[in-house]
Amino acid sequence: MDRSFWINRWEENRLGWHQVDAHHLLVKFIDAAPLPQGSRVFVPLCGKTRDIGWLLSKGYRVVAAELSEIAIRQLFDDLGFTPEVKDLGTLKHFKAPDLDVFVGDVFDINPEQLGPVDLTHDRAAMVALPDDMRARYVAHLANITDQARQFVISFDYDQSLIAGPPFSVPEGQIKAMYGGRYTKTLLFTHDIPGGLKGVAPAQEQAWLLERR
Ligand SMILES: C[S@@+](CC[C@H](N)C(=O)[O-])C[C@H]1O[C@@H](n2cnc3c(N)ncnc32)[C@H](O)[C@@H]1O
Repeated sequence: MDRSFWINRWEENRLGWHQVDAHHLLVKFIDAAPLPQGSRVFVPLCGKTRDIGWLLSKGYRVVAAELSEIAIRQLFDDLGFTPEVKDLGTLKHFKAPDLDVFVGDVFDINPEQLGPVDLTHDRAAMVALPDDMRARYVAHLANITDQARQFVISFDYDQSLIAGPPFSVPEGQIKAMYGGRYTKTLLFTHDIPGGLKGVAPAQEQAWLLERR
């Protein structure tokens, strides 16, 4: 899954993952580990998710990262914000009140650029990355967020039935990837009605990961 895969998806407007409302598990579990108003939530690999507008409406500040500038221009249009844009070399910084978005490869963001993070909200981000990138991504996020707590949504299904993304990341893999740095709590698990993409019986799971 290289950069061109995602850039093409945005250019061709093939956005099967995009949801018209904030994610039901974010809405249900935002208070699982309550955060004070004004806390800063990191949304990696954000696309144009409506979760960002929802988090802002709840009084949180948001910092996000996304490869595609098309996505982020659509995100700001959708929010009704005109961004201030700064060129940082490999990244662009789109800014509006309470919102910072870095456009470029998430692996190019350093902790100073990202700034403080109180919670990482990972929906369709870790599971969007193939096996060989995932451990690197988990380590990078732990580094740039100073191991801030994470809310992670994952899927568990038979990978031989369909190709990802989203990839299957069952509990054993969650434990192997995050276990050294975070404790994990399974907040919720359910069978996806009709299966993933209507093909593979699958469970969707929500995890709260907290610094060890
Ligand atoms: C499956 S989509 C999910 C988007 C969003 N989280 C949501 O729930 O709607 C994955 C997104 O990650 C972005 N992406 C993929 N690799 C990336 C990388 N290395 N750095 C930043 N963004 C990336 C893609 O462009 C795409 O918008």
